[in-house]
This record gives sequence, structure tokens and C-alpha cells, in this order.
Amino acid sequence: MRRLMVTGGAGFIGSNFVRWTLETYPDAYVLVYDKLTYAGNLDNLKDVAERFQGRYAFIRGDICDARAVREAIRAHRIEAIVNFAAESHVDRSLMEPGSFVQTDVFGTYVLLEAARAFGLRYHQVSTDEVYGEVLEGASTERDPLMPRSPYSASKAGADLLCLAYFTSFGVPVTITRGSNNIGPYQYPEKFVPLCITNAIDDEPLPVYGDGQQMRDYQYVLDHCEGIDLVLRRGQPGEVYNLGTGISTPNLEVAKRILDLLGKPYSLIRLVPDRPGHDRRYALDISKIVALGWRSRHTLDEALEKTVRWYVENEWWWRKIKSGEYREYYRRQYAERLARSRPAFSG
Ligand code: NAD
Ligand code: DAU
Repeated sequence: MRRLMVTGGAGFIGSNFVRWTLETYPDAYVLVYDKLTYAGNLDNLKDVAERFQGRYAFIRGDICDARAVREAIRAHRIEAIVNFAAESHVDRSLMEPGSFVQTDVFGTYVLLEAARAFGLRYHQVSTDEVYGEVLEGASTERDPLMPRSPYSASKAGADLLCLAYFTSFGVPVTITRGSNNIGPYQYPEKFVPLCITNAIDDEPLPVYGDGQQMRDYQYVLDHCEGIDLVLRRGQPGEVYNLGTGISTPNLEVAKRILDLLGKPYSLIRLVPDRPGHDRRYALDISKIVALGWRSRHTLDEALEKTVRWYVENEWWWRKIKSGEYREYYRRQYAERLARSRPAFSG
């Protein structure tokens, strides 16, 4: 499976997956097909375009555009689709759900139809959020889907479509349900890069509610390796959870970031909560471990690498933070910060 179309490959995880794939497999050919929304960024692939000439191509396109998708598959003799393309930020799905339904559900349908027509292998990059909040224990792949935000509901809809295309039409689909990724090239609307870049600038770190919501933070390249493993060795029609299996409260993560940067905890501000905020996600990862995967980074190692990358790559994130992001940040945080309180004094 070496001629891949990576949809959403100009985003955070997709660009890491593309680089990792081309470095790992000398016979791999990767076509990135990406709409370049606010989250898509060719800076994420700048080195890839230079290093892998002849094995890498880019097309700007929408996964909802069936004709363009088929032309790309034909022109590049694609053998498999790995779908990262999505509207991915929960807070934006609360502001404007329509684009999430369009891209995450309808776009997945368009790609599945193309996979069916061309006889392609198809992998869907999904999320632990489809299980909804898990107050105790851990989600297995057989648990019911109980999504609670427009984002997670759209991703759950896409998962169900993928499984339906396997059952109804025999399309060889697999799904991974990943936990929160951290690492290089993550758009600074997400919690970890937002905390890191704000801390570098001595700006407040806005932590929602009481900061005791728990997430399974994993290093992005561990996630990429797991996706590749499932692409190669996963069973069609099957779902695989993909995370470390360890969940940590957000407040603890914010403190560790400040420790790494040598900044005071007084930068942390508790702000009004995200509506419908899922309290906890936790994954049972025994199925992917049985397939041969393991996480290579502890949370501390993942945070250390991530913080270092943002410290060393201000050229990447300062450009973003001076653009569209400013207006988004104002809408999302101005009032919240005005109503915030410190988590720690001093
Ligand atoms: P991202 O927002 O950084 O990137 C999304 C990419 O998709 C962007 O390059 C964007 O331009 C592209 N895109 C959006 N709409 C498109 C469309 N209609 N057609 C073509 N391209 C389009 O997202 P990410 O954080 O890299 O997440 C990638 C995938 O992984 C998503 O499907 C997300 O649901 C899933 N996921 C993310 C995480 C996480 O922690 N970030 C965890 C588990 C699963
Ligand atoms: O769990 C996997 C999911 O992880 C992916 O499917 C999503 O695409 C990805 O965005 C991420 O969703 P989260 O909502 O968990 O990520 P986010 O970085 O937005 O938030 C992480 C946690 O931090 C969450 O509990 C909300 C909290 N948070 C977030 C922001 C942006 C804050 O406390 N303050 C913030 O400013």
C-alpha cells in the first residue's frame, strides 16, 4: 500500500504522518489532498516538498468535491486513502456546526464512494470523543457511541458510514479512534500549543472550568505509527482505539508546561467552562497493543519535545497568531478572561 492519498495532509497530524511515511518507506508515494482551511498550512510541509521531490505531490481540493477527488485518484494512481481531513476543533463546532457536518460527514461519504468506485483501501482517522464522556473505566471498541458535541457527533456519523460501507459494499475500511495528540505543527487554538505559546509571551493560560477534565495526551508520531500499523496489518471492518491509556487533568498539563518554560503558575486563569464539556475520556488500548503497537513517549517526554519545538520554531506560530487567529481568540477568550480567576496565587 505505497501510493497514498492523504486527505487533510496539510494539517497537524496529517503533515506529521506524511513526513513520517516518506522517511520510513523509501518506496512510498504520497499525494496530499487538502482544502487549506484556516487549519491547513503549507508551512507544515515545506521541508517535505523540498526533501521528497518525485515522491510527494500536493493538490488543493475539497473532499466534498467528488469530481476533483476522483480526478486526483486517477491522475496519481492512488491505492489507498487515509482520511485526516476534518473540521477538528470542538470550540469552533460550538460556534458554527455546519462546516463540521459538511466536511466530517458528507466529505467522508464522498471519499468512501471514491474508494468503492476505484477499489481502494480506506482508513478513517477518528477520535476517542465519539464515545462521549467516560466518567470511569475505559472505552472499548465495542462500546456504544454517545457523542455530545457537534464535532464528535459528526465524527461518529463518519465512523458509522465507514462501517456501513464495509458491510454493505465490502469497501476495505479500518478506523482508528485516537486520543489528544500533541507535537510539532499543532494549530495554537488547541490547549497544549495555546498554553505553550501564551506562556512564552507571558500571556494568561485559559483553563476551562476547574481544570480537572481529563484527556489522554499522546505524542503525534506515536499516533502516526499506530495509523500506519493499522493500514498495513489491521483487519478490514475493524476499529482500533489509539492512545496511551493514561488520562491526565488539564490543570496538571498546564503546570508541567509552565515548569518546562520556567514560568509562574500565576499565569493560569480558570475561565468559564466549554458548554457540554466532556469531563473525561479514557481508552482501553488492548486491541492495538495486541496488533503490535506501543506508545514510545511518556507524557513528560511528549511535553518536553513539544515545548522545545515551539520554542525553536517561533517563525511557524507567530505568523499564525498574527492572522485570522486574533479575531478567533478575541471571540473565544476576551469575555472569558474578563470573568476569570487565578488557579494559584503568587
Ligand atoms: P487540523 O485541523 O490540524 O487539520 C485538518 C486538515 O484538514 C487541514 O489541513 C484542513 O485544511 C483540512 N481540511 C478541512 N476541511 C477539508 C475539506 N473539506 N477538504 C479537504 N481538506 C480539508 O486537524 P488535526 O488535529 O490534524 O486532526 C486530523 C484528523 O485527526 C481529524 O480527522 C481529527 O478529527 C482527527 N483527530 C485529531 C486528534 C487531535 O488531537 N488533534 C485526535 C484524534 C483524532
Ligand atoms: O480527544 C481527541 C480530540 O482531541 C480530537 O478528536 C480533536 O480533534 C482535538 O481537538 C482534541 O479535542 P479536545 O477538545 O480534547 O482538545 P482541546 O485542545 O480543544 O482541549 C483539550 C482539553 O483542554 C479539553 O478538556 C478542553 C480544555 N481546554 C481547551 C482549550 C482550547 C481548556 O481548558 N482551555 C482552552 O483554552
